[in-house]
Amino acid sequence: MLAKIYAWLDERLGITTIYNTVLDRKVPKVNWWFTLGSGSLFLFVMQGVTGIMLSVYYVPSPDHAYDSIQYIMTGVTFGWLIRGIHHWGATLMVIVVFVHMLRTFFYGAYKYPREFTWVTGVILLLTTLGMGFTGYLLPWNQRAYWATTVGTSIAETVPLVGPFINAVLRGGTDLSAVTLARFFSVHIWWLPAIIAALIGIHLYMVIRLGISAVPSKED
Ligand code: HEM
Repeated sequence: MLAKIYAWLDERLGITTIYNTVLDRKVPKVNWWFTLGSGSLFLFVMQGVTGIMLSVYYVPSPDHAYDSIQYIMTGVTFGWLIRGIHHWGATLMVIVVFVHMLRTFFYGAYKYPREFTWVTGVILLLTTLGMGFTGYLLPWNQRAYWATTVGTSIAETVPLVGPFINAVLRGGTDLSAVTLARFFSVHIWWLPAIIAALIGIHLYMVIRLGISAVPSKED
């Protein structure tokens, strides 16, 4: 019965072809370092799921942001756990993505024909760091406020365009409700959308080109 339903669906949707292309690919002899790309993907999805859960109670306004997080930590069932996973998952994701980059660099996986995989990867690293930077402000506590003040001031030191970048980031001369609103928007909409699209291109390249082998002495 189940086999019949599957065959019916497969004929129309091509599930077996999708499965064979995406998951049942030939891979060279690899090692544990090759799991870090999938690890990055897992962490991105985990951050997305826990972030959506947090957005149910989090309020992005200077009056309520801090209190809403206190409520998540003490009043919401398992709120502390979801926030904890999101908080530590962010740090872990930066580390895992970075070590994944080191692995592809030291194994020479960025070389022909995988240059484009590398370029999308570099943007993924920068956008992942952007997620960390924008997320750090959201608790709206002293540490968040002053860390972002320092971070945006550093951006201001860039020659010529620095003051402009600082003004765009802060939405004014100082950190305010405008800053919190735009950091929240970038954190939950802009960057996740860009990262999801880039991961799509990145994985398309991985599926199309296959995984590179561990370099041998002759390489
Ligand atoms: C959210 C971030 C990222 C995700 C989800 C991701 C995902 C993946 C996955 C699943 C693979 C295949 C398995 C593996 O080799 O580990 C892969 C391969 C690759 N990634 Fe990433 N990646 C990310 C960031 C990066 C970064 C920052 C770079 C470099 C700057 C990069 C460069 C590459 C390259 C060159 C390959 C091909 C490896 C090969 O063929 O041996 N990726 N990525």
